[in-house]
Amino acid sequence: MAEREVFSLFPTPVMRVAQAISPEQVQALREGLMDQAALANHLSGELQHTRILGADDHPELLQDLARRVGPHVVEMGRLLFGEQLRWGIKEMWLNAMSTGGRQAVHNHANCFVSGVLYLSDCDASANTVFMRNLGGRDFVFANTHGGAEVGPFNADKWIGPQPEAGDLVLFPSYLQHEVPLNRGGPRVTLAFNAIPERLDAWGYAISFSS
Ligand SMILES: [Fe+2]
Repeated sequence: MAEREVFSLFPTPVMRVAQAISPEQVQALREGLMDQAALANHLSGELQHTRILGADDHPELLQDLARRVGPHVVEMGRLLFGEQLRWGIKEMWLNAMSTGGRQAVHNHANCFVSGVLYLSDCDASANTVFMRNLGGRDFVFANTHGGAEVGPFNADKWIGPQPEAGDLVLFPSYLQHEVPLNRGGPRVTLAFNAIPERLDAWGYAISFSS
């Protein structure tokens, strides 16, 4: 039989780092930030956020965190841009979701790598769902029904391994994602956005600062 090869072109990196921080660090972040999660989500009454936290907020807590997740962000950046660049985390915020909460489909503007650090375990119902672009104004043809197999070339959604407290997930900031209805207990995450110091296309360079 003739040899058959299939190539997966242009894949999208999503990085999972199991136990990126210790249980003690999870506890310290929850104790330091939870009482500030007072901003109601505009869509879900069971989801609250802190304001956007910068480098000057909780310097010990967040700078220590930046040191721990930094090497993973650099490696994610190497996958995306082919080079070990200097990266900075330009904002963080805590999300505290109770039973019945959800987060609408969105992506993150004005950044390149985004991350979710789990500060609690996460019910299977509320695992982050990543999805292909939602489309533009083109007509769509699909073959989606009970008899159709779903695989990497036709799937619209992707759900990663079940997260536990201390786990980190990194993804390109353009990637659409959502949190479906949480049927489990409290789900606490620290989200952040990162930018490289500089990108250079054959001398056409652009620098970023937060
Ligand atoms: Fe997000």
